[in-house]
Amino acid sequence: MYGPKGQGSGGRSGGLPKKVTVPEIRARKGGLPLAMVTAYDFTMARLLDAGGADILLVGDSLGMVIQGHPTTLPVTVEDICYHGRAVTRGARRAHVVGDMPFMSFQVSPVQALENAGRMMKDGSFESIKLEGGEDVAEHVRRIVAAGIPVMGHIGLTPQSVHAMGGFKVQGKGEQNAARLLRDARALDEAGAYAIVLEAIPPDLAEEVTASVSVPTIGIGAGAGCDGQVLVCYDMLGMFPDLEPKFAKRFAQVGDQIVQATQLYVGEVQERTFPAPEHTFKPNDPRRAPRPVQPSPEPSGLMEEIPPHWQTH
Ligand code: KIV
Repeated sequence: MYGPKGQGSGGRSGGLPKKVTVPEIRARKGGLPLAMVTAYDFTMARLLDAGGADILLVGDSLGMVIQGHPTTLPVTVEDICYHGRAVTRGARRAHVVGDMPFMSFQVSPVQALENAGRMMKDGSFESIKLEGGEDVAEHVRRIVAAGIPVMGHIGLTPQSVHAMGGFKVQGKGEQNAARLLRDARALDEAGAYAIVLEAIPPDLAEEVTASVSVPTIGIGAGAGCDGQVLVCYDMLGMFPDLEPKFAKRFAQVGDQIVQATQLYVGEVQERTFPAPEHTFKPNDPRRAPRPVQPSPEPSGLMEEIPPHWQTH
């Protein structure tokens, strides 16, 4: 069930597909683009893995899409590890990366190493990601030296949302572009195995991609990167609160969930669900099923649904 074609053999016992590894991700530089997507739970991880995603990121975006905060800042190492354990159970093939949350690494390289180690142990991650460029190069070096693979993240770094004055495009103008290039090279030299480029002009993303030895993974950075990443709820059309320009909706799953729920509510109120096929045998087989009672009054549910989820 759920297995994409051509991924059923090799590598792991019990017919499990072979896991995507860090050396394989590095080797995709300039080759077949990497498809990365966020995941936060077992069921979604299993589906995204079956769809062929190469990398699943337990992003600190969970602060917004799972916890409902306006920013990623409240997320803790415990939160990321809790979701990481669920996602790694669902990822048969995809590599699983854990995002280091705000203030879990910024203080010092030692703090960064300690928390990266904690995430590998408690979150079952296969690598970690952290935001920042030159300023965190030493942190990256220390973590990599301990045998923990690190993915970098530059451009729009949501943990600095207040310093940036909002979720805005970065790297505009010569000076900012030059700084971004320095950041990318510093991460590359420090040993990062891939670098996320978020919300930067596409020509700058291409320049960065050409000037580092590791794959770049873009989000709002154009098609010239070595891979792409999206938040899964954006990709699936399930998160209407934020609609960034770069977040293409590949499905409208949110609409389907609202419609399915309306059907369910209607059938519960009409007593047409559960039907006999969803019901166990009665103790007394001579006993007739209960007659359907019409609902005393309709719920008026349609008017209560927010406009972005009104069915057409
Ligand atoms: O937290 C997250 O989801 C991310 C991706 C958008 C790259 O960092």
